[in-house]
Amino acid sequence: MKALFLAGGKGTRLRPLTDHLPKPMVPVMGRPLLERSIEALKECGVNKVVFSTGYRADDIEKYFSSSEFGVNIHYVCEDIPLGTGGAIKNCADYFNDTFIIFNSDIVSNIDLNDMVAFHKKKRADVTIAATRVQNPSSYGVIEYDEFGFATTFTEKPKPGEEKSDFINAGVYVFNPKVLDLIPSNRVVSVEKETFPALLQNGYKIAVYRGGTYWIDIGTPEKYMRVHADIFSGLCKIPENNFLTNRIYGLERIQIHDTARVIGPVWFGDDVRIGANVTVGPNVVVGSGFESGRGCVISDSILWNNVSVGSGVSITKSVVTAGCRIGSGIQCANTIYSQESKRHLVI
Ligand code: GDD
Ligand code: MG
Repeated sequence: MKALFLAGGKGTRLRPLTDHLPKPMVPVMGRPLLERSIEALKECGVNKVVFSTGYRADDIEKYFSSSEFGVNIHYVCEDIPLGTGGAIKNCADYFNDTFIIFNSDIVSNIDLNDMVAFHKKKRADVTIAATRVQNPSSYGVIEYDEFGFATTFTEKPKPGEEKSDFINAGVYVFNPKVLDLIPSNRVVSVEKETFPALLQNGYKIAVYRGGTYWIDIGTPEKYMRVHADIFSGLCKIPENNFLTNRIYGLERIQIHDTARVIGPVWFGDDVRIGANVTVGPNVVVGSGFESGRGCVISDSILWNNVSVGSGVSITKSVVTAGCRIGSGIQCANTIYSQESKRHLVI
């Protein structure tokens, strides 16, 4: 089975986390989200994937060319964004059998084998994974009938005008013949144009309600939320024993005798923690981290190659790659970005 990742968006709502990274490459527990998604797909027997890229396409291609990920990857880069439907159409040549499409900013435990089996059982043209949220107006809202087929699809209705709290979870199974219905060489939104047109023309869109965890990491709040959910055990990650040991990865790590680590904490490689530092709970310490003395770090996500001076306090914050935080600085509810050197209140 093959899969297509829609990975060309600008990630504007996730800024400044996406100032130097495309959204699919933003790290979730120390590893790019897209890499985590590929790992999960391999488990389901998907061995060929297509990345539809645009914004910072090279970052994606370089990363996945640099080592072996156990799947065959093709890249289709857009010079001008084609929208979600245009991007799907642009990759049509790769797909001549039932295939899976993903938005690239999703963390979920949707069982893809089960979803594909459901799609076939329903003899649907398209199957959309659906989940329930409290604020459906930020998403594609789906109404469906008693047989599990969609009756309406409304992308981001005005607040108060949502007809359902079931939303598009950004995972689709497509029959390739549907690709013939998407126009070529122009911007198309699969959500605003293609899905409503399919319904109007009598095509069958099945609604799959599987999985117990779902979030998109489209905003800094949700980026922090997924980490909180992993730390609490609500969202599972494959790293061995992380949830039982509460501390992950202590190889090549120097922790001063007087420092304290309060789990859960996730460590990358080559980390050096100074005297009288307290790390945790709920901290991701990226690879190459270095700290001075007497720092207190909790409920935060530190990307790779962050260094902090002495007496620094970081709480409920994200510190992006390569940042240097001077001694004595207090960071709370902040996204600390190297480029802008500014603190944004989340
Ligand atoms: N190649 C390409 N070209 N990819 C694109 C383009 C484009 O022009 N525009 C967006 N994408 C990719 C994004 O990178 C992302 O992975 C995916 O398509 C969806 O775009 P978002 O910008 O994240 O959309 P959204 O979050 O506002 O809404 C979508 O996701 C919701 C679930 O999180 C919609 O599909 C909603 O219906 C859905 O509920
Ligand atoms: Mg999104």
